[in-house]
Amino acid sequence: MKTILVTGSMGQIGSELVPRLRRIYGEDHVIATDIRPPDKEQGPYVQLDVTDRRAFYDTAKRYGADSILHLAALLSARAERDPLLAWEINMGGLLNALETARELNAQLFTPSSIGVFGPDAPKDRTPQVTVQRPVTMYGVNKVAGELLCQYYFLKYGVDTRGLRFPGLISHTAPPGGGTTDYAVDIYFAAARHGGYESYIAAGTFMDFMYMPDAVEAVIQLMEADPSGLVHRNAYNVTAMSADPEMLAAEIRKHIPDFRLHYRVDPLKQRIAESWPDSLDTTAAENEWGFRPRFTLEKMTEEMLAFAGGRNPPEDGPRGNSP
Ligand code: SER
Repeated sequence: MKTILVTGSMGQIGSELVPRLRRIYGEDHVIATDIRPPDKEQGPYVQLDVTDRRAFYDTAKRYGADSILHLAALLSARAERDPLLAWEINMGGLLNALETARELNAQLFTPSSIGVFGPDAPKDRTPQVTVQRPVTMYGVNKVAGELLCQYYFLKYGVDTRGLRFPGLISHTAPPGGGTTDYAVDIYFAAARHGGYESYIAAGTFMDFMYMPDAVEAVIQLMEADPSGLVHRNAYNVTAMSADPEMLAAEIRKHIPDFRLHYRVDPLKQRIAESWPDSLDTTAAENEWGFRPRFTLEKMTEEMLAFAGGRNPPEDGPRGNSP
């Protein structure tokens, strides 16, 4: 049975991944950590600053972690406002995670992002392997992170794995400081106020995936047979490509008079325009069987139900059957 240490456990991904992991591996086999005190009663929890290498290592060692899911990071827009802090947290934290994994011979997962691509990468169906010249600090961090993970795998044999996530859409914990956050906010604004003011312009396409698919993808990749993992540190994954108008059209199927206005944020718009419109996910499909279940239609139904306070069933298969 794995013992998994999770950093950034109260963030957008951790808030849904940790309960799922605890259901699979057992409450005491998942050690949640974050920089803040815990916000609710939960299983094993340690307050941890990932930039503190000694504390990182000591925590993992104390609990006998053989797997580390390193999620703590600043997202793109926040990183752009404070690039030095982003470097310290995103790179310093990852290096500490890698060193801890190397010393404890642990497996390591860390998310990469669509942010690794820049304006000179192909926009549509951006290939798994292509030019990666991001123009944001977040993107620079993520490219360097992919390379560092590869380096630790090649030099020390650390079992590093990773996914290039698109914008993740979820209802449990809000994202913070990202460029794709609008696609979460729009559902809450629709369900609660019937309208939304988008900071991303009409016609700006980015990739998205619903959180349950992201959570399953992490678990599936961590459990995958390593011999098949050619692109182990950074698989393109996504479920849908959309712009604000497409999200609004889907929302109007449930809330016909939903109003969408625009007040474009120049910083976030610039970041969004430098990213792909859609990713090619063939490598993830072929190498470990990636197959998301949620379409835009199904995700919209669930997001509006949650955002409006009507909970759809939480257990069992959801979305489109494979
Ligand atoms: N969701 C992230 C962001 O917007 C991209 O990985 O920063």
